[in-house]
Amino acid sequence: MRFGLRRHFRRTAQAAVAACLLIAALAGGRAAQAGQEPRPQMAEDVFKNVPVIRGIPVDEFMDTMGMFSAALSLNCTDCHVGESSTAWERFADETDLKIAARRMVTMVNNINRTNFGGEEFITCYTCHRGDRRPQVRPSLTVQYGVPMGDPNELDIFADPAAPPAAQILDKYIAAIGGAQRVAAITSFTAKGTYEGYDTDHTPVPVEIFARAPNQRTTVVHLFEGNDSVRTFDGNAAWIASADRPVPLMALTGGNLDGARLDAQLSFPGRIKELFSQWKVATTVIDDSEVQVVQGANPGKPPVNFYFDASGLLIRVVRVTQTSVGQVPTEISYSDYREVAGVKMPFQWVTTWTNGQTTTKLTEIQPNAAIPAARLARPAPARRPQ
Ligand code: HEC
Ligand code: HEC
Repeated sequence: MRFGLRRHFRRTAQAAVAACLLIAALAGGRAAQAGQEPRPQMAEDVFKNVPVIRGIPVDEFMDTMGMFSAALSLNCTDCHVGESSTAWERFADETDLKIAARRMVTMVNNINRTNFGGEEFITCYTCHRGDRRPQVRPSLTVQYGVPMGDPNELDIFADPAAPPAAQILDKYIAAIGGAQRVAAITSFTAKGTYEGYDTDHTPVPVEIFARAPNQRTTVVHLFEGNDSVRTFDGNAAWIASADRPVPLMALTGGNLDGARLDAQLSFPGRIKELFSQWKVATTVIDDSEVQVVQGANPGKPPVNFYFDASGLLIRVVRVTQTSVGQVPTEISYSDYREVAGVKMPFQWVTTWTNGQTTTKLTEIQPNAAIPAARLARPAPARRPQ
């Protein structure tokens, strides 16, 4: 666990959420006057002390914090004062490490601009590799050791000996029950448990509502009277959760694409149509050889899909572009069980730079009726009781 916002949130969300609600109301009011969808809240509208990382939506801002944490293996409260874990507004306080990090952002931008034509070749991770202080001497242990490949790598080389992507994707659909049975499931509801940093790793009830081809809502019953809701309505996506910097956070960029993909993969029959280019490589996960099928669409980062020997999808890795580099999300699927003749994953673990969550389902109800409101923009999160 990288940070304990839940703890902070329980004690202080009242003030923070009230302030955020006010901001959201103001932003929403402006947009409503103009007769448009409210634009996503920008970092500088919500945060107090962001002279360097601004001009980007709040969700992307939080991902830049994820990049900082991941690149240096730091917790939020290593760079921010300890009190920020119990009060959002204290994230604005100055610290030496924040000042150093700002200087680094400017340095990295300069390096990329003056040496790499502004392309993002250098990020915090290039030097830091998970350390506060980058290493300066080459390591003989690394040089002469067994190379450690990362199966999540997105820069993959196509394996000329591997079967074509279409064949692997067809095998997947066959392995889960065949195109006909897969197409016959057009909606489902599911129940189970969820645990993560936001629940202090205690299992809490979760409900999922999904409708083909691409709508999906996940409701985590965080604690009494407080739900964390994540919805992709077929177009737009939001997280309504009182432990976020705003009570209704619009998802943008790679987070929006990720929410769309999660919804589309709930009904995987048309997986082949989701990307215009595919390539196939081979890698190893848990000592077993698996096939990586990488899908790409023009102008977007690629997505890796991992299939085991039986043809089942066991992992998806995708990235979100932030102003300081791409940050990955990994979703590992397991415990496939049959629902109306279709094998569906009853467990998945989602890992990203800010934390890890585990969802375990106990039941899936295929072709269930779902009220339209369940798959539409959620109400902003309420403050805890
Ligand atoms: C390597 C240091 C570093 C780490 C680690 C880090 N931050 Fe930050 N954070 C910063 C800097 C620098 C800023 C100010 C950005 C600017 O100047 O534009 C900032 C700003 C913020 C703000 C805006 C506060 C305000 O109102 O001005 C929030 C919220 C925040 N960080 C949350 C987090 C969270 C949550 C984490 C953990 C996931 C985290 N940070 C990890 C360096 C860090
Ligand atoms: C070109 C290499 C390089 C890149 C890229 C880089 N750093 Fe650094 N960073 C360093 C070096 C070297 C130090 C140590 C300087 C020292 O010890 O005085 C350092 C120190 C830091 C420190 C202070 C650590 C401490 O313990 O005092 C922070 C915070 C930091 N970097 C954050 C970042 C962030 C955030 C990024 C991405 C925006 C980044 N760095 C990108 C080389 C780099």
